[in-house]
Amino acid sequence: MSGFKIAVLPGDGIGPEVVKQGVKVLETIGKLFHHGFEIQFGLIGGAALDEKGVPLPDETWELCQKADAILLGAVGGPKWDDLPSHMRPEKALLKLREGLKLFANIRPVKFYPNLAFSSPLKENLLKGVDLVIVRELTGGLYFGKPKGRFEENGKVYAVDTMYYTYEEIERIAKVAFELARNRKKKVTSVDKANVLETSRLWREVVQKVASRYPDITLEHMYVDNCAMQLVKNPAQFDVILTENTFGDILSDEAAVITGSIGMLPSASLGEGLKGLYEPIHGSAPDIAGMNIANPLGTILSVALLLRYSLRLEKEANAIEDAVEKVIADGFMTKDLYLNNPSAKKLVSTEEMGDIVVEYVKREYHREE
Ligand SMILES: NC(=O)c1ccc[n+]([C@@H]2O[C@H](COP(=O)([O-])OP(=O)(O)OC[C@H]3O[C@@H](n4cnc5c(N)ncnc54)[C@H](O)[C@@H]3O)[C@@H](O)[C@H]2O)c1
Repeated sequence: MSGFKIAVLPGDGIGPEVVKQGVKVLETIGKLFHHGFEIQFGLIGGAALDEKGVPLPDETWELCQKADAILLGAVGGPKWDDLPSHMRPEKALLKLREGLKLFANIRPVKFYPNLAFSSPLKENLLKGVDLVIVRELTGGLYFGKPKGRFEENGKVYAVDTMYYTYEEIERIAKVAFELARNRKKKVTSVDKANVLETSRLWREVVQKVASRYPDITLEHMYVDNCAMQLVKNPAQFDVILTENTFGDILSDEAAVITGSIGMLPSASLGEGLKGLYEPIHGSAPDIAGMNIANPLGTILSVALLLRYSLRLEKEANAIEDAVEKVIADGFMTKDLYLNNPSAKKLVSTEEMGDIVVEYVKREYHREE
């Protein structure tokens, strides 16, 4: 029996509700596949502020340092909106990403036929959409120096600096090429090399990394064109590799393709196997405590955790297959159900977690 330490940080709003379902599924996988998952809970965000006075208490930081992987719900909410920036719940997330050096953000975007109705795109454009965005997370415009607001000769100006080193580009490019190896073997590197010096270096380094992966097709695309192609022909993409700011914008654009923000998982990875896994949505204070939130983004984040941090591919596939079948059979939370002709049964957050657990078990016993 393999032993893995998993830190679970439910956070705020719907965080605890959706994380509870993710943990149910994780425990089911542990029992079926005989893995010892040592699950330990920690406080983060507003919940931590209320109890400990800081958004990331030392105990939580230590828990995360010792863990093989971290599962997070979401942080934030109106209750803590007026706090100074260093005390805000979101600060905890930034500290975790920075402290654990999680430089690669991975967001898979997959189309489920029964959710076509919820997507703003026409169904014929959605068929076959199965892409993943690899976004550089700790460099570029958000962190480059100089940064700030300055005054000179009576004039006020503000500066943000887009800064990338060769090594920062090389390590994120490797993540993208490694991912493509187990997928459709295509990397689209997105930049603005016609204008930006960082993009020219980006292109040069990505090209060099590509030469070590002769089995992968590399194409370069300008970010403005990519934004257009994502709505015109999203099925053309396999792995999209891009820097921090471009990735921030493109991944939100790509997210709407699947119909509900509640469906999408994400992984943030560093040099080693340790990763932080969370649904892409926030704490949704408008529906918190109502047992109607969609937990599938969190459950699919558990699948990513098993795949990337624990190297348990079969187990990750078991969850993804179960989710696909649950949706195909028409079980839907409110966000997916409303006006959807493919929906058969409206289910609560808790019920959705239980149904996924049942489907995981059913599929496992069928294959035994
Ligand atoms: N990573 C994070 O923890 C994270 C990310 C984004 C926002 N936030 C925080 O969350 C709070 C709310 O932010 P927001 O309203 O802009 O974004 P949000 O993602 O929380 O909600 C946007 C809309 O989507 C709906 N929604 C979100 N997740 C859902 C789910 N699983 N099922 C069904 N519906 C869902 C919400 O009800 C809301 O109408 C803010 O405090 C923000 O700072 C946290």
